[in-house]
Amino acid sequence: MDGPKEASSSVEIDDLSLSRLLNKPKLNIERQRSFDERSLSELSINVRALEGYDSIYSPAGYRSGFDTPSTARNSFEPHPMVAEAWDSLRRSLVHFRGQPVGTIAANDHGSEEILNYDQVVFVRDFVPSALAFLMNGEPEIVKNFLLKTLHLQGWEKKIDRFTLGEGVMPASFKVLHDAGRKTDTLIADFGESAIGRVAPVDSGFWWIILLRAYTKSTGDLSLAETHECQKGMRLILALCLSEGFDTFPTLLCADGCSMIDRRMGIYGYPIEIQALFFMALRCALPMLKHDAEGKEFVERIVKRLHALSYHMRSYFWLDFQQLNDIYRYKTEEYSHTAVNKFNVIPDSIPDWVFDFMPTRGGYFIGNVSPARMDFRWFALGNLVAILSSLATPEQSMAIMDLIEERWEELVGEMPLKITYPAIENHEWRIVTGCDPKNTRWSYHNGGSWPVLLWLLTAACIKTGRPQIARRAIELAENRLLKDGWPEYYDGKLGRYIGKQARKFQTWSIAGYLVAKMMLEDPSHLGMVSLEEDKAMKPLIKRSNSWTC
Ligand code: GLC
Repeated sequence: MDGPKEASSSVEIDDLSLSRLLNKPKLNIERQRSFDERSLSELSINVRALEGYDSIYSPAGYRSGFDTPSTARNSFEPHPMVAEAWDSLRRSLVHFRGQPVGTIAANDHGSEEILNYDQVVFVRDFVPSALAFLMNGEPEIVKNFLLKTLHLQGWEKKIDRFTLGEGVMPASFKVLHDAGRKTDTLIADFGESAIGRVAPVDSGFWWIILLRAYTKSTGDLSLAETHECQKGMRLILALCLSEGFDTFPTLLCADGCSMIDRRMGIYGYPIEIQALFFMALRCALPMLKHDAEGKEFVERIVKRLHALSYHMRSYFWLDFQQLNDIYRYKTEEYSHTAVNKFNVIPDSIPDWVFDFMPTRGGYFIGNVSPARMDFRWFALGNLVAILSSLATPEQSMAIMDLIEERWEELVGEMPLKITYPAIENHEWRIVTGCDPKNTRWSYHNGGSWPVLLWLLTAACIKTGRPQIARRAIELAENRLLKDGWPEYYDGKLGRYIGKQARKFQTWSIAGYLVAKMMLEDPSHLGMVSLEEDKAMKPLIKRSNSWTC
């Protein structure tokens, strides 16, 4: 295979070239002392050094054995929850023909209505499990998962008489074991069985992000370089880079096409998808071969990244100054000189946002489209924006400032609110279609999801603020195990176990483990983080929180 040559040619396009990173010396991160004992300043130096190298190549296999979590062998006492979490995570493994291929969404045998959670491997839910296994030196299951889902992508996908795009990745799959005939069969869902019949736009993006994480962590370039993986990536990219009627570089989506998989008014250009889109494009860039087929995609990605980062950083960003500007917007402006480009009517700004917005801090709002700005906070989109460097370093700092300033609202007693604030009453009726699961401060409508802890922790490490992650992890440790690893919590402060939350939700367990392992060894961050690309610096001048 002529891989290394191929990969090094991508250095010009993206300095995240995998092969270049693989040649970097392994950064010597001191692991004797507990991470907690080190001072913050020491940490930020380490993190900065680490960022300079993007992520360090540290073959996970050298770091740890196969059955014992690496955390358990450190010189400091691991939290008792860690061992319990590993046991539960291993119990959630799903096998296909004797090989582990994923983890089931929840292992809640106490629950009466298991619905489609039992035995089903959700692509997005497997990501934190995969990261935990990679960090623990167990890449095989991740490789199996990547190959199995790739195989499923090749299936013909039909809803009634309509065929979906070739590149669509499944939302989930399950393995049917026929004990009598001793056969295993795979069944995939591309949205045709999902409640609401929505295709998961995020699955393909997570797949690419995970392929990069696998490659980074193992140093095994050969998987990403296979014909199958190259084709799989190109098919996903063809779907989201296709030209159409769009006037924006953002990706137009249906409601419920991501982690929030029910109607929640996120149709249009949801931040959750835009951030994952951006990250997947950046992850694909150094992995794509520059052969006849790959080259064209590389060029399209570079152009799209440029336009997308400009659009997001300019129009989705909200801070005190920007809010004040929108508040004073003139409307009905025509032509290129318009300041209020999307004709947002200031009266449509909800009251809550004026109080919520701190003087210090800012965030990417939920959605921007003609005459519509969704001012809600979405945790996943903002944290992925930090990890992918869609957010400039200043914006990343401002997002972390906001989390600190609005701790009670966004973290409360259980990290982390999926969105803020909840929608209620008439608005809830219109927006959710009277969804009884998404009542105010529950589930997707302002519920608190422990799985988001891993994303928060990664963003904290990247921005040099591990103390925030530590505070959040402590909150989770007070309750998670005792409560049986619920899927989500309800209430303004996230104090109550969710109305219909499953117990032993796998991604709540894996999310906790990933957060712990990353905090203990921040070199893991490189698996899920991308350095800022200097070529994408915005030219526009923005408000104060950008430079504070
Ligand atoms: C719920 C969540 C979705 C998740 C699934 C399985 O439908 O909204 O994000 O993938 O449960 O845990």
